[in-house]
Amino acid sequence: MTCPIGTNIQKAAEIVRDGGLVAFATETVYGLGANALDVDAVAKLFEVKERPRFDPIICHISSATQLETLVDDVPDVARRMAECFWPGPLTMVLEKKPCVPDLVSSGLPTVGVRVPNHPVALELLRAADTPIAAPSANRFGQISPTCAEHVAEQLGERIDYILDGGPCPIGVESTVVEVTETGTRLLRPGGLPVEEIERRIGEVEITVQRADDSEPAAQLAPGMLPKHYAPTTQLVLSATPVAPLDGERVGLLTLMPLDETSGFTAVEVLSQTGRLAEAAAGFFAAMRRLDGLGLDRIIATPFPEAGLGRALNDRLRRASAP
Ligand code: TXA
Ligand code: MG
Repeated sequence: MTCPIGTNIQKAAEIVRDGGLVAFATETVYGLGANALDVDAVAKLFEVKERPRFDPIICHISSATQLETLVDDVPDVARRMAECFWPGPLTMVLEKKPCVPDLVSSGLPTVGVRVPNHPVALELLRAADTPIAAPSANRFGQISPTCAEHVAEQLGERIDYILDGGPCPIGVESTVVEVTETGTRLLRPGGLPVEEIERRIGEVEITVQRADDSEPAAQLAPGMLPKHYAPTTQLVLSATPVAPLDGERVGLLTLMPLDETSGFTAVEVLSQTGRLAEAAAGFFAAMRRLDGLGLDRIIATPFPEAGLGRALNDRLRRASAP
């Protein structure tokens, strides 16, 4: 039986406080939340998502003033970033306090923290009155959910409540950066373009592992595992998609309309005018629709490698990894 979907924030907060699991809307993707300070609840998160224990979970807080409950020394640059970008699609990885369970941080000395920019998420955080550990509300490795129904499809039978806040306006996960006294390093490109951070804060070191690296993924940011965000249909990246052969059922995912798309079974154009923000908002839903058609494969064209295009290319590369 699938769990209730609703808009009752008090009920959702109560479930979190009682050690249950609540999926909730954020501006990026839906998160699957548990009380971050309750080890048993966090353990359930890993189980339900089938997530390996080595993949740490982001803690969500309702405002930057709550940082002190999770982090000992907040570097000046992290404070500036919080002022500039919170609430918003930025996760900062900082040295954690001992009260943050090792399970949340997968044994790392650090914790990822963010203040989401969504009224439903913020209300929930305030009502629950505790930091909420929340990975994206999908089964591990699969497509991230950007509306309540997507959560229900993947996890509805395993969780307690889905707090519906409508479709996620940004549509890709937060940008994850590690922040220390000595510098800022990008761990995952996401909803906050790196260019924005550099413009306001200064240089960001970019060491994100590429999906085609042959080295096994170091556990830098395990969302950076080569294979991730993946549909069940084979996904192929191509800047110049070739028309399918007769009898082949092939889907096409593109930023803008292409001149020639005859022969494709389904075509998903993410933005008629090539707007990356619009494309990001519809990206995972489009991938899901194509994945539901039982196609032989999906061909996706790469995005311009700038701004949100960086995050979208990252998701495409990982979705298409063998
Ligand atoms: O937008 C988002 O970030 C969404 C919403 C729900 O907030 N959450 C999300 O969580 O995408 P998840 O678990 O799917 O991805 C979290 C990423 C992973 O790549 C994880 O490895 C990284 O953040 N991460 C979390 N804590 C970390 C830490 N202490 N050190 C390094 N990476 C960390
Ligand atoms: Mg995820």
